[in-house]
Amino acid sequence: MEQTLVILKPSTVMRGLMGEVISRFEKKGLIIAGMKMIQLNDEILAEHYSHLVSKPFFPMLKRSMMESPVVVMCVRGVEAVSVVRGMTGATNSRKAEPGTIRGDFSMSGQQNIVHASDSVENAEIELNRFFKKEEIFEYGADNYKYLYAEDEF
Ligand code: TYD
Repeated sequence: MEQTLVILKPSTVMRGLMGEVISRFEKKGLIIAGMKMIQLNDEILAEHYSHLVSKPFFPMLKRSMMESPVVVMCVRGVEAVSVVRGMTGATNSRKAEPGTIRGDFSMSGQQNIVHASDSVENAEIELNRFFKKEEIFEYGADNYKYLYAEDEF
């Protein structure tokens, strides 16, 4: 089973869309293995978005990510990283396909509702950044037989 990091950004928290977005992952059959509300700061954002620190939009991105608390989630499932990225949609929400989270809930390339890890390797690094081991829970394995074929998990 893979695990991936999802962040419900301030655009989700402030617009009252947390339930809608969480519900999509639940309905898909993904397990919410960890979830908490935290306030991001300069330091953790410089680390999390290290590939973007030199971009002109980085200060604006940082401000937008600190406008309110965010919800960080560990989402588990077979091929969870690519499944969640697919559900998230293109970075620029105006170009994101209808049916994706960004495509359905946002008009922005920055206030784009969710972060989702982009590779299995980054998912592990990002989960370690935001969660302690004991904040990620093993539960729900009894349900796998209703979510997957026997040879899928
Ligand atoms: P990135 O890692 O490229 O995309 P994604 O979130 O889809 O993995 O960018 C991280 C965030 O940076 C993105 O969600 C929103 C913000 N961003 C901008 O504000 N302007 C931009 O031009 C880009 C590329 C990203």
